[in-house]
Amino acid sequence: MRQLIAGNWKMNGLLADGTALAQVLRQGCDGLGCDLLVCPPATLLRPVADILAGSAIVLGGQDCHQAPNGAHTGDVSAPMLRDAGANWVILGHSERRQNHHETDELVREKVLAATAAGLLPIVCVGETEEQRETGRETETVGWQIAGSLPDGFSGVIAYEPVWAIGTGRAATERDVATMHAFIREELRRQFGTAGAAIRILYGGSVKPDNAAAILALPEVGGALVGGASLDPAAFLAIARAARI
Ligand code: PGA
Repeated sequence: MRQLIAGNWKMNGLLADGTALAQVLRQGCDGLGCDLLVCPPATLLRPVADILAGSAIVLGGQDCHQAPNGAHTGDVSAPMLRDAGANWVILGHSERRQNHHETDELVREKVLAATAAGLLPIVCVGETEEQRETGRETETVGWQIAGSLPDGFSGVIAYEPVWAIGTGRAATERDVATMHAFIREELRRQFGTAGAAIRILYGGSVKPDNAAAILALPEVGGALVGGASLDPAAFLAIARAARI
């Protein structure tokens, strides 16, 4: 299966710099051996979709509400993301779990909403530093997978240890390999043979200099890239490091 390299721009980008970034990516994306996805802020989805139309790069949102519409001031629904040109959506990112108190149950509802709207979800899981230090990292991720993924789940998982996000301190290759093997087992247990085909991305301080080693590990189906995805040269370098 081709690896997926996904860029999460987070709350970064105004019209001028976001569209300039998309243009550089479009020019540089030919001949890559991986799937490439960018997830700009909701305000930039339509302009970036117009720039990327007809290219190999696909587009995603960073979150969606669990309802398709209604009295939810400030929220964005899955059909709205779809309408703005997205085919994917990141759900349950640790910044949403922490800053917006999102639970596994809510993430699960959002996965159902995304799927109903025709979006492919990337569901993020990952332990905090304290959970790892107390030996509860697999237990934590196991609960997140069991609670966040509905029956018949069709999408991608991103393992993102919270302590590795935006810190420059990526998980060690051994820790990534161990956790991805564990997640694969959980997916098989929950979804049978379909669980064997779900891509598992690694996220957390992926940079051009560590990407090749991480992407070469077994059960790593790609990367979810935050900071480095704002630099087109770095993001494309990570994409070129994907396993073919
Ligand atoms: P980072 O973010 O690459 O800046 O660590 C990853 C993420 O939050 O998806």
